[in-house]
Formats: sequence, C-alpha cells, structure tokens
Amino acid sequence: MRFGHATGVSGRFQAEVDPAFRFDVLQGLSQTQKAVPARWLYDLAGSRLFEEITQLADYYPTRVETALLKQHGAEIGRLAGKASAVVEFGSGSSTKTPLLLRELQPAIYVPIDISGEFLRQSGAQLSAQFPELTILPVQADFTRPVQLPPALRGHPTLGFFPGSTIGNLIPWSAIDLLRSMRETLGDGAQLLIGMDRVKDIGRLVRAYDDPEGVTARFNLNLVTRINRELGADIPIAMLRHRARWNAELSRVEMHLEALDDLLFHMCGQRFEMRRGETIHTENSHKYTPDQAKLLLQAGGWTQRHLWTDADQDFLILLAQATEHKSAP
Ligand code: AVI
Repeated sequence: MRFGHATGVSGRFQAEVDPAFRFDVLQGLSQTQKAVPARWLYDLAGSRLFEEITQLADYYPTRVETALLKQHGAEIGRLAGKASAVVEFGSGSSTKTPLLLRELQPAIYVPIDISGEFLRQSGAQLSAQFPELTILPVQADFTRPVQLPPALRGHPTLGFFPGSTIGNLIPWSAIDLLRSMRETLGDGAQLLIGMDRVKDIGRLVRAYDDPEGVTARFNLNLVTRINRELGADIPIAMLRHRARWNAELSRVEMHLEALDDLLFHMCGQRFEMRRGETIHTENSHKYTPDQAKLLLQAGGWTQRHLWTDADQDFLILLAQATEHKSAP
C-alpha cells in the first residue's frame, strides 16, 4: 500500500512530463534541505521494488500485519460485524484484503486509488476470489474527501487502511487524511488501520536499509526517474542510500547522500550538492499505542480496539467515527 502514482515511462519514447512531478522536484531541490515528496518513489519500477521490500526478512511490517489479521480476523469480524461495505484506501491486491473480506463477508467492496491500472489489476484478482462480491472501484485521490458510489447508502461501512501508510505522512497531514476519511465514510462508519510501533532503533533502521540493497535500489530509482522523465543529469553513482532514525520526530527517514561535491542540471537550472549533503525522500513515522490513539482522536475517530503482536512490532486499530458534539 502506498500513496501516489504508478505512472512513468518505459521504452524509448519520452511521454509528456507530469507537471506536478516537475514542480515538486524543482521546488524540493531548491530548498536548503533538498527533498522530494515520497509519493514520487512509486513509478512502475518503484512499485515493483516496494513489493520486493515487503518480502525482505528485515522488513517486518507487512509480515506482522498480515499475521495479526490472520490471528485476530474472527474477532475483528465480530467487532466490526455490522459493516456490509468495505472501503479500502489504496487498492488492495495483496493478501491482506482477501483476509478481511473473508472474515467480514461484506456485500460491497470499494477500492479507492489514484491509479486506474492498480484498480483494474486488484479488481480482477478480487472478483475471481470473491465472485459474489460487488466491487465498485473509485479512481480518486483519497487524501481529499471522495464521493462514494450511491449504492453504499444505507450500508454500515468499514474503512480499511493497512500497511502503516499513514506513517509516511507528517502528523499534521496524517490528521488531515484521517479527517478526510471521516468525511468520505460519514457518520457511523468504522476504520481499521495499521500503524507501525516505536521499537529498537537497530531493527527500525535495518528495515529501511536491508543488506540485500533492495531499499537502496528503491530510493535510488527516484533519481533514475528524475533523470529519465525530467531530462536531468544527476550522477546516480555519486549518491548513496541512507536510512536514519530521527528520535525527536519519531520517524525513520530515507535520504540520498552525495558521496562528493556534485553539480547537475534539470529543466534549464543548475543544482549543486556538497559532499555529505542529502536529498530527503521519505519519512516513516512510528507510534506508541497512546500516540496512535491520540492521532486517531485528532482525526475524528474514537479507538474501539487495538491488536498488537507478541514482539510489540505493529498495531492494528479499530475506530469508530467520533460523533460531532459541541463542547459542554
Ligand atoms: C509504504 N510505506 C508504508 C513503507 C514504509 O514502511 O514506510 C514505504 C517504505 N519505504 C521504504 N521501505 C518501505
């Protein structure tokens, strides 16, 4: 599960430049701390590399979250039982969505994704597995309130946002997203969401800097994409992947660090990097159970239940849309 696009060009022909990509990269590389929003990591190659990351021994979130859904599926089904519609933020072709659908047996499943291609692929896979299920895909940016299909009216709804993707947003934006989800799903809705826990720093950093080098390839692919799509000449071999724990902000950060002083060009502009300087490419926030509960509250959701694993690596939270009441 990820934010963003699976666009990008392969083959010999340069497609039209995405103006939002161009804007974000030009603006981000002009800042004192160079940065590119993480959503641009996910072109076709980046999405494939992310799938590879989810299989790595050191990348525990996918494995642990899937195990939690398996272990507690029946209880989740019981607690969220009245939901006859599931709305997934991001299209779920992975193993997690079938696990939930099997437990809840909803009448309607609505995957929301910005990429029509992801929606088609996951829709085809899920309808083969669940022939009785009505699948109503919505192609939209779910970071803003989304108009749901009228067929959902009257159906108690459960939002599903697994993968700890919420952690890729700074808390300010995470709260905005939770509020958007609250608005999309409406009064009486529930939300099942995965969040990664604060833990031993060594394990956290290894999860984002694996010895196989897959996460490094994932991070460096962003530069390949910038060079290809924006005609830049960033010397990829002179950048290295870095994963750092930022204790103050409780997050793992991914950076690309210059191995020497660098000069490169893009869209008629000249950019410089000093040796050791970095381009910040991703944040992955980690939460304690108390922080997770507060985040949900700030986003308009009241926690009903929380599941975690024996190693206390990951959280799955079930929440109810908070009723609007004026202060006493
Ligand atoms: C998609 N997201 C939840 C992943 C994470 O763990 O923050 C993205 C990722 N970046 C590097 N490895 C995984």
